[in-house]
Amino acid sequence: MESPRLSDTGTPGEPYSPVGVDTPATQSSVLFDGNLEELLRNFPLDQYILVTGGLGFIGSHTTLELLKANYNVVVIDDLSNSFREVLDRISLLASKHHELQGTKMPELHLHAHDFRDTVALKSLLEQYQVESRWGTSKSKISGVIHFAAYKAVEESIRSPLKYYANNVSGLIDFASTLGDFGIKTFIFSSSATVYGTLATSGLPLREELCVHKQEAFHDDDGSERAIQSGCTGITNPYGRTKWMCEAILADLAASDPEWTIVALRYFNPIGCDESGLLGEDPRQVPTNLLPVVVKVMTGQYSELQMFGTDWETADGTAVRDFIHVTDLARGHIAALSTANEGKLVENFRTFNLGTGRGHSVMEVVDTMERVSSKRIPTKASSRRAGDVGSCVAVASRSQAELQWRTEKTLTDACVNLCSFLEISGLSS
Ligand code: UD1
Repeated sequence: MESPRLSDTGTPGEPYSPVGVDTPATQSSVLFDGNLEELLRNFPLDQYILVTGGLGFIGSHTTLELLKANYNVVVIDDLSNSFREVLDRISLLASKHHELQGTKMPELHLHAHDFRDTVALKSLLEQYQVESRWGTSKSKISGVIHFAAYKAVEESIRSPLKYYANNVSGLIDFASTLGDFGIKTFIFSSSATVYGTLATSGLPLREELCVHKQEAFHDDDGSERAIQSGCTGITNPYGRTKWMCEAILADLAASDPEWTIVALRYFNPIGCDESGLLGEDPRQVPTNLLPVVVKVMTGQYSELQMFGTDWETADGTAVRDFIHVTDLARGHIAALSTANEGKLVENFRTFNLGTGRGHSVMEVVDTMERVSSKRIPTKASSRRAGDVGSCVAVASRSQAELQWRTEKTLTDACVNLCSFLEISGLSS
């Protein structure tokens, strides 16, 4: 098997040393006997995608899918909520994929520093600058996917400034530096949390309900609706950081047509890569449903508290649009290629990434019990502050404009999580 082309610059400030001199493009030229467009799509010519937070839960799955899709990837991750070993696992899985396909493993590099460390960031970006024959410089980084952010709702209520500093100020400085280097294709991790209390209204959650400039659209019944830009009843600072970042990016795109910006509003990502080698392995105490279910399965928690059994749903427990993290990761690749092909409807565009179908907390527990053949003790508890009864995406915009749709089910997610537990030696 070809050894993975992987470098790890370790601590911030260490000089970067690129690994390997040949690129997927140079390698492919000797094999080329097909159509040029196809070739360019499969081998994005010595180009790199910069991924911040690329070793976290969603970031690691996206990094893997990018490598599988033949993109060279440069990860910035300060390891504050992830582990260095994840890099080796991503590399191993991607190498296996390329070995099976008979294709060349792209490059993967880690820069272990905070994305807000502007000195380290500039030094990294300088490594990827190339001089054109006309004396102008251009970056080999053709797109950025920005995951690095804080995401714990409760913590954001206790320490709002920490969240505004990292998520909002961090984004402003980051985008400003990228702009200085002419890197202007940007995919932003947003969240369904921007819909705030709209989720309780029972309205289908479509992108047009939360906009950054006034928009008119036709509702399902054909009537025209005008939506003013603004906030939608967001219930916590974390959610507000996501909304503010979207607003800032929308303004940036409006000010400069060279920017192409996509904000992806995630619904509830669950599951893990089917290999069971990548999973949700946060350093912090989990509060999301599936990580807590996993803690119960491994005996670390005695039972799952079901927050709210009196919602207006079929079984009384809350309903969410649970999306398999691999589907979600592939949504980023779809967004990136749509943006880079110049096919976005506008140079700032929001997309829901969800399945369009809801499952209740009870259904999740039942599915996991069936798949794992384990009993998951539960206890009915009162509603969690800030929760909503139902939150399900309208997924038609991403299906139509990104040519992306989910393929995996709740059962797939539970099966994959069981493999992760088995491989990690956590299943009892
Ligand atoms: C949460 C965040 C949201 C964030 C999303 C990312 C809150 C209030 N919202 O959404 O901002 O974008 O994660 O993944 O934290 N549940 C239980 N028992 C548990 C844990 C959860 O019953 O131990 C229930 C919750 O009450 C909720 C459902 O499971 O009804 C889903 O919860 P969770 O996974 O935390 O996601 P969200 O609350 O939808």
